[in-house]
Amino acid sequence: MLNWKSDRKIVLGITGGIAAYKSPEIVRALVKAGCEVEVVLTEGGERFVSPMVLSTLAGRRAWRGCEFLSDDYGWRIPHISLADWADAVVVAPCTAETLANTVQGRGKELLGSILLATGAPVLLCPAMNVNMLNNAATVHNLDILRSRGYHVLDPDSGDLACGYEGKGRLPAPNVILEEMWRAICPDKSLEGKNVLVTAGPTHEYLDPVRFISNPSSGKMGLAMARAAWYRGARVTLVLGPTGISDLSGLEVVRVVSALEMRDAVMSRSAEMDYVVKAAAVGDFRPAEFSSDKIKRRGVDTMKLELVQNPDIAAALGERKRDGQVLIGFAAESSDVLANAADKIRSKRLDYIVANDIAAPGFGFGVDTNSVCLLGADGGSASFSGTKEEVAEGIWDTVLSGR
Ligand code: PMT
Repeated sequence: MLNWKSDRKIVLGITGGIAAYKSPEIVRALVKAGCEVEVVLTEGGERFVSPMVLSTLAGRRAWRGCEFLSDDYGWRIPHISLADWADAVVVAPCTAETLANTVQGRGKELLGSILLATGAPVLLCPAMNVNMLNNAATVHNLDILRSRGYHVLDPDSGDLACGYEGKGRLPAPNVILEEMWRAICPDKSLEGKNVLVTAGPTHEYLDPVRFISNPSSGKMGLAMARAAWYRGARVTLVLGPTGISDLSGLEVVRVVSALEMRDAVMSRSAEMDYVVKAAAVGDFRPAEFSSDKIKRRGVDTMKLELVQNPDIAAALGERKRDGQVLIGFAAESSDVLANAADKIRSKRLDYIVANDIAAPGFGFGVDTNSVCLLGADGGSASFSGTKEEVAEGIWDTVLSGR
């Protein structure tokens, strides 16, 4: 667990929309992520979800709309003590009424007063009927709140409880959690920067059902992408075929082959400030693709002719513009540092992450890694831990220019 993610104190505001029925799942997700949660219901929220359910899941009482004085904190004033206690306030779901009240600074209910008093980051998760969401008043209120520094999570589109179809659904708890981490992350050193990350394997097909590939899961690349996103970057993730689905907030370009990955990367690279090549790109592809499934009957042995795929990292190195930073990864099973250092030079990278894939428990597929980051200037730094921790270490070093 990253330091800035551990033991976080979250006030979860729940307001009176039908999506409030999902709020117990949000409490569970927060608790599972190691957060302490204080639930604050508005009167409307309490009509949709019982304080009993929420307090059971949070492991402490749930606060109700009009509770302005309590002995829970030695008769301290709850709207101030909760506002000061919180590392973040998340309002999910957030109704049009609560948005309007927040714009106007109304503190009649406990949640409104907490929002007025807190200095912590606030994440608003609007959920409502599509026409209410598109109403000029709501659009205006959201613009005002964003301009005041509130974080706003865009609702999902789909079937709405009111029978309409459109935008207005409350996103899933894991999406709310990721957005909350982004709001909480203390390091905003990539604010305004464009970052492109490649992740996962490529599939090099020889017929409609067979391909050459490798065991990359995309986890290391996703960790690099998330860490950059937490720090405020706009992140494009060029992702080979993987089972990863938790990609909220990232602009995802899905590709299958090395040639598709090359096109996706090269067409976007000019506008990128940082390019991270964590993908395990297939070095070779079958020289020919059979549009029919290759039959085994009567074939005892088979020779497969392979041709080299383009080296995307090297092409990026050739057209690197001033100020752009290229970070490669090197999956090595022997002479790890020497081979990685060789790739920095041949591909004209600024950094390379030397990854010893022969070491058990690290590298392909698993959640942990142990790497050595080499700089083109000869500097080096080592990181071990979860891929999230390793990614954080890599970005810390790259961004400090070490
Ligand atoms: O995805 P995971 O399961 O989390 O596993 C993570 C990982 C082991 C895949 C990752 O940490 C890693 O090491 N990625 C690089 C794998 C690799 O392809 O290494 P390489 O030494 O073959 O390539 C060196 C660099 O050139 C890489 O940045 C690679 O993306 C790039 N390359 C390679 C070949 C090619 N045709 N084009 C490229 O751009």
